[in-house]
Amino acid sequence: NLDKKWQVSRRGFMLGATATAAAAVTGCSRVAAQASDIQLTAKAGRARLLSDSTVSTAVFGYGGQVPGRELRLRQGDRLRVSVKNELQEETTVHWHGIRLPNAMDGVPHLTQKPIKPGETFLYDFVAPDAGTYWYHPHHNSSQQVGRGLYGPLIVEEAEPIKVDRDITWLLGDWRLHEDGQISDDFGNMHDSMHAGRVGTTITINGLAPQPLAVRTGERVRLRLINVANARIFGLKFAGHSPKIIALDGQPVTPHEPSGAVLVGPAMRVDLIIDMVGDPSSNFTVEDTFYKGLEYALTTLEYGGTPLRQALLPTPVALPPNRIAEPHLRAATRHEITFSGGMGGGMGMMGGGMGMMGGMSWAINGVSPTSHTHEPMLTFARGKTVVLNLNNDTAWWHPIHLHGHSFRVISRNGKPTAHREWQDTVLMPPRETAEIAFVADNPGDWMFHCHVLEHQAAGMMANLRVA
Ligand code: C2O
Ligand code: CU
Repeated sequence: NLDKKWQVSRRGFMLGATATAAAAVTGCSRVAAQASDIQLTAKAGRARLLSDSTVSTAVFGYGGQVPGRELRLRQGDRLRVSVKNELQEETTVHWHGIRLPNAMDGVPHLTQKPIKPGETFLYDFVAPDAGTYWYHPHHNSSQQVGRGLYGPLIVEEAEPIKVDRDITWLLGDWRLHEDGQISDDFGNMHDSMHAGRVGTTITINGLAPQPLAVRTGERVRLRLINVANARIFGLKFAGHSPKIIALDGQPVTPHEPSGAVLVGPAMRVDLIIDMVGDPSSNFTVEDTFYKGLEYALTTLEYGGTPLRQALLPTPVALPPNRIAEPHLRAATRHEITFSGGMGGGMGMMGGGMGMMGGMSWAINGVSPTSHTHEPMLTFARGKTVVLNLNNDTAWWHPIHLHGHSFRVISRNGKPTAHREWQDTVLMPPRETAEIAFVADNPGDWMFHCHVLEHQAAGMMANLRVA
């Protein structure tokens, strides 16, 4: 039964994959509903990140703005984006979470040459899955993302669910000096070996958070995208019961979170929030992730007139995307151990480490310093892979795989309730998780921690699908 389902969905996916390849090769848009031609220019700009509107901050941004423009398309549409580099340094764009052809993945020296200052690169791919995604550079990421290069990429369902408003929040943070300018201590040893570059100023969509005006009875789809280098958000909506309908773009059985809505770096959570407050009332949205450092992120501010008297019926689940179902009995299994950082088991690394915890992070004992290194593992195309991830460190890590979505099938040896599809799995200290996927997208794919300072300090590997 499972096999049959798997074959059906695999056939569905293979069709999609062939069509994508055909479009890439022939440059023809026959398979896509529409083509979009978009220009993005990575360049310096200024942004008003603080509530004090007399201060502007020098940033990097797409179009010189933070965030970069929203790219919104329909599932199956083809996206053509020509990226111009007007920075003083090389860059690339990675389409985080999109299952696209390897050559479009935006990893410098691995899938493409970096885009040099003054140069342009054309990204051209079909978005196979509906959902919430984002784009960001994959070169010098700690600094380029940390200075503001990121934007939302929304792929709409062929038949969208009924909501009153579809809102996207890019949750970001910044490390600013008192004069409002970005601290240039990127990649310092302390950040790298601890929790990463956790900033001091929080923004939503590049602005100091403003109250969200809502109306009684309204149903909002809120797409959360964590674009911070290192900060984890844990949101609580006082007086409301948000339902999670998608994780990392992929639909999940709608459910209420057991505590705060957790969003690790690079992760996305789609919520349905029914506005159950009384007219003219206010509710706090609190970020409770760091104990002792809880703060009010923003408020839901109710207007005086209800939108409707009775709430809409319970949310319908989103239609699933067509992803090949892992075939667990036939899987190849691999142990993956993350180590390093302050206070974290680097014993296996052996000699040379002058201090407890060492000066780097490692995956299975290896700490690459560039994107060009030998693949750590090679998977046969079409085979199910189970990775048994073991976080042998004292720190949280959002672990991201390119080119695929995987099911999180267990945590600490216990099956997960929702077997959620993710592209980034947030791993608490000393915990384990099993992820499973069909290695059906050929190429060399990055597998790394999305705390960008951890990645730069060795917490990355390449996995090859051949
Ligand atoms: Cu969002 Cu390899 O990254
Ligand atoms: Cu990490």
